[in-house]
Amino acid sequence: MNAKDIAGLIHPILAVVVVFPIIGIVVNLAWQTRQRRLQTADHGKSKIPPVVGPEHRKIGNWLTGSVVGITLVAIAYSIYFKGIFKDFKSKNMTLAILIIMIFIATVTSLVFLYRAQTKLWRGVFATLAAAGIIVLGFQEGVYRRDFEWAVSHFYYGLIAAVLMIISLAIVPEIYKDRTHKWRKIHTALNCFAIIVFLAQGMTGSRDLLEISLSWQEKHLYKCDWQKQTCPDAKSQTLSPEIMVASISNYPTLAQGNTVLASGEFVTITPGEDTEGTAEIIQVGSKTQVRLAENFSAIEGPAVRLLLHKENRPGSYTAENYVRLGDLKSFTGEQFYDIPEGINWQDYPNVVVWCEKFDVTFGSAKMN
Ligand code: HEM
Ligand code: HEM
Repeated sequence: MNAKDIAGLIHPILAVVVVFPIIGIVVNLAWQTRQRRLQTADHGKSKIPPVVGPEHRKIGNWLTGSVVGITLVAIAYSIYFKGIFKDFKSKNMTLAILIIMIFIATVTSLVFLYRAQTKLWRGVFATLAAAGIIVLGFQEGVYRRDFEWAVSHFYYGLIAAVLMIISLAIVPEIYKDRTHKWRKIHTALNCFAIIVFLAQGMTGSRDLLEISLSWQEKHLYKCDWQKQTCPDAKSQTLSPEIMVASISNYPTLAQGNTVLASGEFVTITPGEDTEGTAEIIQVGSKTQVRLAENFSAIEGPAVRLLLHKENRPGSYTAENYVRLGDLKSFTGEQFYDIPEGINWQDYPNVVVWCEKFDVTFGSAKMN
């Protein structure tokens, strides 16, 4: 494991070792607090000791801090390793400083929230802390899983952190309110939080695997684990589809071709690494896209090659792109016909797009 892998484990380790045990304690004390209150209201006494309420509150304070803390750790990891700090460019300096300041402001707001007494200041610091987390969460590099937001570890994580901040902010109201309105609000919100925490445990474990084990195994077991090298993808036995694709490309190669434009792929979605050269070539009367020998894209399901009007496609509609077909291979040279009647200059970007999850892997601007 390298430093990046170890840093990536800090967040899951903290979640499993610190946060989830605290959740267990807080929920147990919450249940006892409620039982004690109801029993005392009914019979005037209860066998549950009076300390459960204050203890729930005390450990609840820790829970808020730890949930916000691990959320910030996860986001910091993603921004640092996959966002603007990766391949840092000096033109991004202002944004980098702003991001660091928002981190500091978010932590400071949380600290002040613990100390604030009046409703106004609790409201202000809770809002600032929650806003800080949300703004940081929407920085480049953070994996939000927008194509499957309903099972997104990121969105559930934000909800959990915000619910904990609300719990902390309304503590005095829970105590002051004789009608139990705030107690009921607190209980309802945090019963929902328990479901969100369960979802975090499941989605977090799934995200640790990233690419399912069954998929990794068949590739990784071919590798030399001692030397950490794997057989070159091109020297492996080619699948029948790739064989057909390669053979059908040979006549094209033999005829010779003129390069009309070319460009380098850049990765659009962090983590979906795409690189290499793309060219628009003239072969007889046909115009084709050629992906050069140095092309490689991360493997994925239902991956298409297309021409798009935008370099960083915001959407895929009939007006803004032309489909060239399924990506024939995730590495190496390959050719795609541009349909007749289509002028590539109207769509000057060669784009690799995972249609299933609507994720743009990479794009190459044709110059
Ligand atoms: C999963 C998280 C949580 C759950 C499920 C939960 C649930 C509950 C429940 C059921 C009660 C008793 C309500 C009643 O008397 O009917 C309660 C009380 C309370 N909770 Fe929580 N809570 C959680 C987190 C927190 C956090 C994070 C804080 C503070 C930072 C907090 C502060 C309080 C306070 C101050 C009370 C009143 C205690 C007393 O009566 O002495 N809770 N909570
Ligand atoms: C209260 C519990 C948790 C909260 C609030 C939480 C929150 C978050 C947030 C906000 C992210 C940022 C999304 C991103 O940058 O990709 C994240 C990422 C992640 N979390 Fe959690 N998480 C929790 C528990 C867990 C658990 C239990 C695991 C695994 C056992 C886990 C594993 C991960 C992984 C693998 C990532 C992705 C990091 C990456 O981008 O590579 N999380 N979490």
